[in-house]
Amino acid sequence: MKGIILAGGSGTRLYPISQVVSKQLMPVYDKPMIYYPLSILMLAGIREILVISTPSQLPLFQQLLQDGSQWGLKFSYLEQPRPDGLAQAFILGKDFIANDSVCLILGDNLLYGYGLTDVLTRAAQLREGALIFGYRVAEPQHYGVVELNDAGQVVNIEEKPSIPKSNYVVPGIYFYNSQVSEIADQLKPSARNELEITDLNRVYLNRGQLRIELLSRGYAWFDTGTYESLHQAASFVQTLEQRQGLKIACIEEIAYRLGYIDANQLYQLAKPLAKSSYGLYLMDIINGDNYNVQVHHNNLATSANRFKQEFLKAEKLTL
Ligand code: DAU
Repeated sequence: MKGIILAGGSGTRLYPISQVVSKQLMPVYDKPMIYYPLSILMLAGIREILVISTPSQLPLFQQLLQDGSQWGLKFSYLEQPRPDGLAQAFILGKDFIANDSVCLILGDNLLYGYGLTDVLTRAAQLREGALIFGYRVAEPQHYGVVELNDAGQVVNIEEKPSIPKSNYVVPGIYFYNSQVSEIADQLKPSARNELEITDLNRVYLNRGQLRIELLSRGYAWFDTGTYESLHQAASFVQTLEQRQGLKIACIEEIAYRLGYIDANQLYQLAKPLAKSSYGLYLMDIINGDNYNVQVHHNNLATSANRFKQEFLKAEKLTL
């Protein structure tokens, strides 16, 4: 399965903060926003990823993410000239998708919860039809809203209805079979002149090929399109990370734990970041994982530890 991160759009709801820099490059606490959807694709086991953004911002994403090989991934990049709708990602990404199935994730979505990796790896097995998720929110009218029958199947799906039929909305992560580009090609622009992902999902629904998985109350899902939701997402990440001493969406850690990079590569990635607690966190991963492995790894852990101690001393900090 391939992955697409859609990180374009005008971001006008966040003006003036997104006037010059794309919102998906902004921090959500200690890392750029795009790290969160990227981490979701990685946890789904997806390694070939297309990043789509505006002509002016795409070079910045390239600068940040590079070709992906530093994390054991492979990135491609494509411009979306205008924000003509989410479903356009599949038209633009047709050659990239080729005959594979694909997961689209919006560059401003943050999803977190126990068991998520299992949910994602299962979803990434999809070869037929489409799979979306349902998440309960208090104010569904801002999203794509699903109407469900007693068996929990989707009977209808509407984009931002003024009178929502349920509180279940569709987060910005979608899994499709290889026909998605063909189907997206047939869509007509909506009243707001966009190729709507909800219309695409309705085609799958009408073919009897749309599955939904409801995410239980233990999950956190934010889209970060307003000042409030951006702040809430950052605050959520800060609270959990500080409490547990574990980072959310730490790309380097995920790459290491999935075996895409080894301890030495992790060390090389951590070094330039070591003046931040993010970099020190990576050093700690090398330290913490050192027991029981080869001498080479032990030496590395020692250097990681020394590096950290020297940094703390220079900055007159203690743990
Ligand atoms: O966040 C989930 C919701 O995302 C879904 O529930 C809705 O069904 C779906 O339509 C979408 O609603 P939004 O109103 O949040 O879409 P928005 O236009 O804000 O775009 C979402 C993100 O995608 C945003 O970060 C900008 C980016 N984008 C948007 C468009 C229209 C693009 O990169 N290109 C585009 O053409």
